[in-house]
Amino acid sequence: MKIGVIGTGQFAGSFIGLWQLHPDVSEVVATDLVPERAAEHQQRYGLPATYDSTEELLDSDCDAVAVMTQRWTHGEMVLRALDVGKHVYSAVPMAISVAEIEQIIAKVQQTGLIYMMGETSYYNPAVVYARQKIAEGAFGRVFYSEGDYVHDMDNGFYTAYQFSGGEDWRRTASYPPMLYPTHAIGGVLGAVPSYATSVSCIGVVDDRGDGVFDREVSMFDNDFSNMSAHFQLADGGVMRTNEFRRVGHPAGVLESRFRFYGTDAVMEQTSTGAAWSDRDHIEDISELFYTNDGEVDTSAPELAGLDPALVHSFASGTAKVHDRSRLPVEFEGARNGHEGAHHFLADDFVRAVLNKTQPPVNAWLAARFTVPGIIAQQSAHRNGERLPIPDFGDGPDVDLQLFGG
Ligand SMILES: NC(=O)c1ccc[n+]([C@@H]2O[C@H](COP(=O)([O-])OP(=O)(O)OC[C@H]3O[C@@H](n4cnc5c(N)ncnc54)[C@H](O)[C@@H]3O)[C@@H](O)[C@H]2O)c1
Repeated sequence: MKIGVIGTGQFAGSFIGLWQLHPDVSEVVATDLVPERAAEHQQRYGLPATYDSTEELLDSDCDAVAVMTQRWTHGEMVLRALDVGKHVYSAVPMAISVAEIEQIIAKVQQTGLIYMMGETSYYNPAVVYARQKIAEGAFGRVFYSEGDYVHDMDNGFYTAYQFSGGEDWRRTASYPPMLYPTHAIGGVLGAVPSYATSVSCIGVVDDRGDGVFDREVSMFDNDFSNMSAHFQLADGGVMRTNEFRRVGHPAGVLESRFRFYGTDAVMEQTSTGAAWSDRDHIEDISELFYTNDGEVDTSAPELAGLDPALVHSFASGTAKVHDRSRLPVEFEGARNGHEGAHHFLADDFVRAVLNKTQPPVNAWLAARFTVPGIIAQQSAHRNGERLPIPDFGDGPDVDLQLFGG
């Protein structure tokens, strides 16, 4: 298959490199609004072609596109790609409005095209472990879970938004935390087979005073930098998520972390490790989740131009809980990222397209990872009023065997 990448900013390179290695991908091509960025990626990765515009790329013979543009632009871009018959890989989040999400699901259903959201937390080692334990019934009933995404603005986000937003970067750096909910919710609901039905969310108004989270400046009318949401799940349980952007926490230390409480067992992950317990014993399971990153080779092409505080996300490790047996051998030793997730995500998409079957994080699950955050943001603007969350159903059955169980 041939993949066209739309948006060659700071993140796209990690996936371009992997898809080029994938034995079932014949070509990767690219476009960017800033042509020099596409040209630079062409040179860095030896791409056979770049296109001057998204229109041209969408007109080309690519089978699929990867939408790697800024986080508030995905919905519209994905719909354009589906309209011209392309399979779609989208960076997170799925979209920033419920209407766009509903349209994407409808379009995927009508056309049978493959849609996948690249949620790294789905393959976070703690989530992989919890998913297996829940499937085995080892927790009993999981009645409460927590997923947090803790990423301080001072750890790389100032430079990232400056690169991304140009002169007007402050307008976009105020991006609402709950509109980027998937690294937290996606980890919980990537393991717990349920979905959120209502939410109450509290936002903490920023007080740094540097014009970033300032409603006068913000294109999102947002002044919340830290947010905490409390969800009811359809199975009667509870999910709590935090999205923190002003927090005294070091870069690269488990920015996404998860805890699951069951009637028979508990798994708790913190910044320094993880434990599994039942009524009779507690066990340190940290070593199952460590990704054997070693030293990050900062000369790797994927890392060029990245703020040093973001480089840790692109370490090359895999954790003990990851079963690599279904990955292409060509990925062995290739740069990985986000605690071992990139290899699995890159392969999931190719497998889904070639086998004509929706991937694990398909449009329906992506909606369940994304919509609750959109409604949480609305709840925070209404002082935490509990609001109902729309749901678009389970979607088609996923052949989990094909994706490694
Ligand atoms: N853990 C994760 O899953 C993770 C980590 C990092 C980034 N991301 C996501 O990846 C996406 C890209 O992040 P990034 O840091 O590379 O952003 P970026 O701002 O560095 O890059 C986006 C690029 O898209 C280009 N672009 C924008 N609109 C376009 C259009 N209409 N046509 C062609 N090109 C266009 C921009 O010029 C820019 O070069 C974001 O949505 C982000 O949320 C996810």
